This record gives sequence, structure tokens and C-alpha cells, in this order.
Amino acid sequence: MGVGIEVKNLNAWYGNNHTLQDINLHIPANQATALIGPSGCGKSTFVRCLNRMHETNPIAKVEGSVHIGDLDVYNDASPVEIRRRVGMVFQRPNPFPTMSIYDNVASGLRLNGFRNRRVLDEVVERSLKHAALWDEVKDDLKKKSGASLSGGQQQRLCIARALAVDPEVLLMDEPASALDPVSTAKIEDLIFQLKSQYTIVIVTHNMQQAARVAERTGFFLSGKLVEFDTTHKIFTNPGDKRTEDYITGRFG
Ligand SMILES: Nc1ncnc2c1ncn2[C@@H]1O[C@H](COP(=O)(O)OP(=O)(O)O)[C@@H](O)[C@H]1O
Ligand SMILES: [Mg+2]
Repeated sequence: MGVGIEVKNLNAWYGNNHTLQDINLHIPANQATALIGPSGCGKSTFVRCLNRMHETNPIAKVEGSVHIGDLDVYNDASPVEIRRRVGMVFQRPNPFPTMSIYDNVASGLRLNGFRNRRVLDEVVERSLKHAALWDEVKDDLKKKSGASLSGGQQQRLCIARALAVDPEVLLMDEPASALDPVSTAKIEDLIFQLKSQYTIVIVTHNMQQAARVAERTGFFLSGKLVEFDTTHKIFTNPGDKRTEDYITGRFG
């Protein structure tokens, strides 16, 4: 099951660039939350702070707190444990290109010490089914490589790989922006299916996509969270003039 995310006074830097400034928000469990805003406003940096990926950059710094369920992300757990509980999918599908489909999905489990064939087979099948890819690949699991799939299939493979280690949160940073409309629709359908079981945070520059998939939407501008509310409110009656200007296309 998904869990809620509580972010308090989150600040992030790249060197002297104060990229995120005093971000406070509560992301509810078992819903999709969309993050929108112009390029460079800090959306990717924000999601990377949720699973401690930001700090993998040597010039990066983070202050403030993130709780994922009862887990204090910056104090209670190792980055490895956090990244198991918080899966991530990126703009460019990044399967392990030479590994088989099966091995791509099993990779996280093997890293966590699972060796039992039956267990691995079961988890691979379940994860590929959850990612709506099973029917397309079930006869080629060990024959085809990750790189042999189409872009949309690769992205669903990356989602299956993330789901295989049983995360509570799924972060998706523009997961469909490199995909064609049919593949994009499949990813959106998938978000719909998955959100009853996982807490989903999706960064998107596509406002229709945010409106279609997300219960809640946050609008970022220049490193600040300008407004966070139900998606309906953000798109029909935003409380801040800057949100209104953005969603009506006046800038960005
Ligand atoms: N690896 C990096 N090194 C230095 N600055 C970065 C790096 N990544 C992002 N930034 C800067 O941080 C700010 C926010 O970037 P980002 O979080 O990628 O925005 P978004 O995802 O909303 O487009 C930008 O000013 C960007 O130039
Ligand atoms: Mg980004």
C-alpha cells in the first residue's frame, strides 16, 4: 500500500544556486499528485530530494525534512533502503540494455539477495502484469533484451522493474514526454491502475495530462511551490495569479 509524504521546510542547492526554497506540502497516500511548472523551476530536483538522489550530485545540498509514512527519509534509513521504498521512473526509459526482459525486472530483487527461482519467476510475472506489459513480452522474457523493446514498452519495463521491489511510492519524472501518443495513453492508463496501491508523484509539462491523471497538483515557479491543491481547483479556480497565468498559457 502507498503511504503519504510529508515535506517540511525543504531547501535544496546546486553549489550556490538555491534551487528549492522552503517547500512544505503533504502528498496523500494512494493518489496521483502532479507537479507542474516551467522548465528549470525545480520539479526534478524536488522529486530527487524525496528519494535522496539529489545528494548523489557532489555539489548538491539538502536541508529540511521528508517523511514517507513513518520513515524519516534523511535520518532513519540508508539511501539504499529509501530507494527500495521509493521507486523512480525517468523521462528517458533506462532499461539495462543488454540484460533480458526477465533480468531487468529481477535486478532489484537480486540486488536485495533474492535467489529462489520460483519467487523470482512469480515476482517478474506479477510486476510485468502490473506494468501492463506481460501480454506483449511473456514469450520473450529471456530471449529479448531491454533495448529490443519499443520506447513505450521500455518505459513500462522500467515501471515493472521499479514495482518488483515492492515500493510504497512511485516517482515519475516526465515519464511520457519521450513517447508517442499511444504509448503515452498506456502510461496514463497505468497510472490510473496503480494509484490505488501506490502513492504516485508525477512531474509533467503537459497540463492535460496532470488534469487527466492526478487528484492533486502543485505548481512550482523559480524554486518555490506557489500553490498546491486539488487538481480541479488548480485548473478551474487557482488561488494565485501566477498559477492562473501559467495554466492559461501566459508564460512558460
Ligand atoms: N546537475 C545540476 N547541476 C547544477 N544545476 C542544476 C543541475 N540540475 C538542475 N540544476 C539547476 O536547478 C534548477 C532546477 O532544475 P530542475 O530541477 O531540473 O528543473 P525542472 O525539472 O523543473 O525543469 C535549474 O536552475 C537548473 O539549472
Ligand atoms: Mg525536470
